[in-house]
Amino acid sequence: MKEKIILASDHAGFELKEVIKKWLTEQGYKIKDVGCFSKESCDYPDYAEKGAIEVANGKNNLGFFFCGTGIGMCIAANKIKGIRAALIHNESTGKAAREHNNANVVCIGARIISIEEAKKAIYAFLNSKFLGERHERRVAKIEAIEEKTML
Ligand code: RB5
Repeated sequence: MKEKIILASDHAGFELKEVIKKWLTEQGYKIKDVGCFSKESCDYPDYAEKGAIEVANGKNNLGFFFCGTGIGMCIAANKIKGIRAALIHNESTGKAAREHNNANVVCIGARIISIEEAKKAIYAFLNSKFLGERHERRVAKIEAIEEKTML
């Protein structure tokens, strides 16, 4: 079954989010867009929080979050329990975010990479699988940190 995709952006990521929304919809993905919904200046933590909560509360949800650099979205999304947000910028980081880190959110900098590069990174992420084994142990250690430090 295809994952449900949660999209989020600030104003800087808005246009790329819209392009990716159309592209993923054409591929048959179910999409939930939590905003923003225009190029008017807004604050990325507001949308990172909304999107990350949606991802964390779903069984088979993945998030694609966009801002100028991807960095702010990534920092904010990782504050939500259960979120493993990764900043990706090409095919190899897209693939590794899934295979090694079992990321459930990927963040992309709309001012950093082109639309074509973003599509390649997302395609690589969606078409890779978590490799488990030693990576399972490492991801479990991340979850153990979360258990110790988050409410
Ligand atoms: C907005 O100007 C910019 O700071 C934001 O999109 C993002 O890059 C933050 O990390």
